[in-house]
Amino acid sequence: RTLRIGLIPGDGIGKEVIPAGRRILEALPASLGLKFEFVDLKAGWETFEQQGVALPDETVSILKSDCDGALFGAVSSPTTAVKGYSSPIVALRKKLDLYANVRPVKTVVSAPKPIDMVIVRENTEDLYVKEETTRDTPDGKVAEAIKRISQRASSRIATMAGEIALRRQKIRAAGSPSIHAGPLVTITHKSNVLSQTDGLFRSTAREALAAPRFQGTVAVEEQIVDSMVYKLFRQPEAYDVIVAPNLYGDILSDGAAALVGSLGLVPSANVGEGFAIGEPCHGSAPDIQGQGIANPIATLRSAALMLEFLNEEAAAAKIYAAVDGNLEEGRLLSPDLGGSAKTEEVVQDILRRL
Ligand code: NAI
Ligand code: MG
Repeated sequence: RTLRIGLIPGDGIGKEVIPAGRRILEALPASLGLKFEFVDLKAGWETFEQQGVALPDETVSILKSDCDGALFGAVSSPTTAVKGYSSPIVALRKKLDLYANVRPVKTVVSAPKPIDMVIVRENTEDLYVKEETTRDTPDGKVAEAIKRISQRASSRIATMAGEIALRRQKIRAAGSPSIHAGPLVTITHKSNVLSQTDGLFRSTAREALAAPRFQGTVAVEEQIVDSMVYKLFRQPEAYDVIVAPNLYGDILSDGAAALVGSLGLVPSANVGEGFAIGEPCHGSAPDIQGQGIANPIATLRSAALMLEFLNEEAAAAKIYAAVDGNLEEGRLLSPDLGGSAKTEEVVQDILRRL
C-alpha cells in the first residue's frame, strides 16, 4: 500500500521537526509493505506574509483530493488580531471535517507516577462555533456566545472514544505492559449545571457507548469537569480514555500534557472519516528556533498516531517502540528533557532503534 502524505511544516521549529517525521516514515521496515509519497504544502504566518493567506486554497484542495493523511508542524500566530489572518489548523479542521482531536499522554520512565491516557476532544462545536455577539444595555455592554451541542457530533465522538479504548486493549493484549486492567471511557461534562447542552452530550455519549460492540468490554464512567481536573492531577494513573466536548477537552488536554514533563513529547491527531492529520501539541517555539535543539518526539509520535488512524497499527507500534527505547535508555535526550542532544542526534538514535 502506498500512502500519500501532505507535509505542512508551518513556522519556527515546525520546519525542524516535520522533516524528522518524514524520515521516520521512510525508515519503516520494508516488510510492513508500506510505501510513502510526500507532498510539500504551505500554511502559517510566513505563508501569510508571502501570499496574504495563512491557508492557501491549494493546500486544502491537495489534501482533499490527493492525500491519505498529513503531518502539520506548528504555526506562529500574532498576539494581536491581524486583518485577514486566521489560524490555519482551525480552518483545516473545519474544511476537512476532522471532528476529533485525539491526544495520548503517556509516561515512559514512570516517575512519579505511570500515566497512559488518551484525551478525545470533540473538535467541531460547543463554544467554538464562535457565534458571539455584544450589545449595549443599561448595565453596560453584554457579550454572549452560543454553546452548541448536537447529538450527531456527541455520538460520533463517543463512538470514537469507545473504538480507541478497544484498540488500546488489543495492543495491550499483544504484550505491551499496561497500567490498566481493562478498557475504560470517562465521559466528562458539567450537566449538573448545564443540563440541556452538557446533558445532551452526556446522555448521547452514554447511549453511543452502550452499543453492542462495547457492551461488557468497555467500562463507562462519568466525571464532572471540575472534579475531573482535580483527579487528573491527583490520580492520573486511573484514566484510560477521556471523552469531552470541545472546550473542556481543549483545557484538559493541555493540562494533561503538563503531567509528562515536556510539550516536546506530546503528540495529537485531528481525525475525520478516513483522514488524519498528525500534529505535535507544541507551538512554533520561537525561543529555540534555528538552534537545532527542538525535541522531535512529539512529531514522531504524531506520525505514528496518524498511521494508527489510517489502519496501519503495526507500523505505528514500531515507531512508538523506537521512541520509548530512546526515552528508557535516557542517554540521548534533548535539552527540554534535561539532556544535551541535538534534534539530529535524537532522530538518529530513534532511526537506529527502528
Ligand atoms: P510553544 O509550544 O511554541 O512553546 C512553549 C515552550 O515550550 C517554549 O519554551 C518552547 O521552547 C518549548 N517547546 C515547545 N516545543 C518544544 C519542543 N519540541 N522541544 C523543545 N522545547 C519545546 O508555545 P508558545 O511559546 O506559547 O507559542 C509560540 C508560538 O507558537 C505562538 O506564535 C503561538 O501562537 C504558536 N502556537 C501554535 C500552535 C499550533 O500551531 N498548533 C500551538 C501553540 C502555540
Ligand atoms: Mg489547546
